[in-house]
Amino acid sequence: MFETLKSLAEGLGDRRIEDLFADADRADAFSLEALGMRFDYAKTQIDDDIRAALLDLAESRGVAARRDAMVAGQKINETEGRAVLHTALRNLDARPVLVEGRDVMPGVLDTLARMEALANEIRGSDVTDVVNIGIGGSDLGPVMATLALAPYHDGPRCHFVSNVDGADIADTLRRCDPARTVFIVASKTFTTIETMTNAGTAKRWLAEKGVDAAGKFIALSSDVARAGAFGIPPERCFGFADWVGGRYSVWGPIGLALMLAIGPEGFTAFLRGAEAMDRHFVEAPLAVNMPVLLALVGVWHNQVLGHATRAVLPYDNRLSRLPAYLQQLEMESNGKGVGMDGAALPYDSGPIVWGEPGTNGQHAFYQLIHQGTRVVPCEFLVAAQGHEPDLRHHHALLVANCLAQSKALMRGRSLDEARAKVAGQFEGDELERQARHRVFPGNRPSTTLIYPLLDPETLGKIVALYEHRVFVEGVILGINPYDQWGVELGKELATALGPLVRGESGAAEKDGSTAALLKFVHTHKAT
Ligand code: F6P
Repeated sequence: MFETLKSLAEGLGDRRIEDLFADADRADAFSLEALGMRFDYAKTQIDDDIRAALLDLAESRGVAARRDAMVAGQKINETEGRAVLHTALRNLDARPVLVEGRDVMPGVLDTLARMEALANEIRGSDVTDVVNIGIGGSDLGPVMATLALAPYHDGPRCHFVSNVDGADIADTLRRCDPARTVFIVASKTFTTIETMTNAGTAKRWLAEKGVDAAGKFIALSSDVARAGAFGIPPERCFGFADWVGGRYSVWGPIGLALMLAIGPEGFTAFLRGAEAMDRHFVEAPLAVNMPVLLALVGVWHNQVLGHATRAVLPYDNRLSRLPAYLQQLEMESNGKGVGMDGAALPYDSGPIVWGEPGTNGQHAFYQLIHQGTRVVPCEFLVAAQGHEPDLRHHHALLVANCLAQSKALMRGRSLDEARAKVAGQFEGDELERQARHRVFPGNRPSTTLIYPLLDPETLGKIVALYEHRVFVEGVILGINPYDQWGVELGKELATALGPLVRGESGAAEKDGSTAALLKFVHTHKAT
């Protein structure tokens, strides 16, 4: 299905992205403005023919029909027989959304109202600290969004404990007053070993400090019965249906820590932003549909050109956890070796996503991005304004650096330019040698998403944009983005290895490497 695109890629020869700007309209023709944001993909090799072929691909793969099926509540998560309706969680208009003939909206709005009542109660109390205990989608969404919206915090301090490494909870509890701390146990299944272990430790900590655990725990879970068995009554339990995947769950109860930090109004603005992106995704023709274009740029770079990774580079320090959030969103969704029908994929699965905020990354891995032998398509994000009125000079420098990087990646520096740079310092062979170290190949693609200010509504738009991008990529690749069987095997083996690590089982480990590592643990264990 990629033949046309592959032959267009082969036809590129040594064409330079920079030369495409001979067309004075290129910047606008290969950018899209929607919902107050601008997505610029002009600094890529995509031209009219390539874009047309990418759009044909989206059409032929039935993106629009699949999208409509998703928002209509059809069971598009075919391997698990589930609908996929995170969009219902931000459907503030309350338009009916039917699953098996029943409108899910009354339940969604009732849970939201209960969350708001609890958030108001806690924000009006003497609670100083809230600890969200969760992992994966029950951590990354709320922690990413809470950090992103720091200027809007006016509630209790929010901490996030995810790792089963006891260091995580120990370091967090040290900063909390047991009498004025509330714990949120965020787990869709209420079985995840990391979360249950940390929740048990939190309970014991309260007991050791002589504080009654009653009223100190809140559960965010689909499993009210398990939460009850842990000691959390139904009125402190906020459920969500199986049509909300873990990595798509920040919009509902899993977003409670964010709601506590920024207040119900701020949280509603976050939902409103996502709702606006949903509407755009559903209504805009594919050619001017931001999630679709973002996905098509991804497919062009990853499956057509074969660039295995994608760097997400927010020039917005408060988006420091966005790359980690997107790693789960993209890699847990589209990191699959088989298509919906179970047959092996005839092309690469979704890309390896990584990144760090700018400008920090510039002093770390940008060396490789500019001069390494592999091309890393980069996705820049930047706000036109910062939140610090006294620090406008910082923001100007930040934006200048962001724009400079995409420009440097595109332009590069030729050998002649490099020679001219060192001409006064070196001569002859040494000049030639030194110049070669200063050559930048350039012609490296990037996109830029620019928005006015990182406020709750804008964050909602950005996160929903990426969610729909992952969906579109999944449809094009024929992958089911909504299951995650690839996390199971490691969990099973960890359960089996637990007794061996603790020295409770006499069973011998058969794999020689693992046996030797276990022996090392036993030789060096704390006495
Ligand atoms: O291990 C994968 C996963 O199932 C994620 O998809 C999910 O976000 C995470 O674990 C946490 O699951 P739970 O919310 O059930 O604790």
